Amino acid sequence: MPVTSKPRPRERRRPPHNGDVLSPEPKYAKLGEEVQRFDSLRALPIGLSEQARSQSSEALNRVLADSTVLYHLYKKHHWLVAGPTFYQLHLLFDKHADEQLEIVDLVAERVQLLGGIAVGDPRHAAELTSIERPPDGAEDVPAMITRLLKAHEALIRGVRVAIELTEQNKDWGSNDLLMSDVLRRNELQVWFVAEHIVDIPLVDEE
Ligand SMILES: [Fe+2]
Repeated sequence: MPVTSKPRPRERRRPPHNGDVLSPEPKYAKLGEEVQRFDSLRALPIGLSEQARSQSSEALNRVLADSTVLYHLYKKHHWLVAGPTFYQLHLLFDKHADEQLEIVDLVAERVQLLGGIAVGDPRHAAELTSIERPPDGAEDVPAMITRLLKAHEALIRGVRVAIELTEQNKDWGSNDLLMSDVLRRNELQVWFVAEHIVDIPLVDEE
């Protein structure tokens, strides 16, 4: 006996709601109504106390703000660098900017998974950063390098504080991120940048 399947009911389009007429136009939302405030915390089940998640989010956001500003400082110097070392510094600064951008993403996503709100706007980052603002114009190359090294040190100091805090709170995920991804990468970048202001000639003058 042949098996016959029931015919599927035809899918119907939902009728217009409350007399609305369907429209292809975008429906713009009202702006400025927050669903989560910056200094508040969502409860995500990762086995960490609210206090630990809150303190980690705050410390990570400071690191995030510094990393965002350092990313832009590298880009500024990538564009403005000049002179006989232009090519190598132009490339090095861009490489370091890319690496800072990776750090920005890692730290921001860590803040989100802790239940916090990551600093996402550069103007917000500028309010929180510990890195000094450079002049809007161009400095010479030794000043650019010195400024980058000072920026790294300000960032690294904050990272060390955050590492201690996350260790006390047993937030090992943040602790590992700060040590493996943020601290080590920044220390390495410091080395690569600092070697450019060591006054050693290539060939001894007789
Ligand atoms: Fe470029």
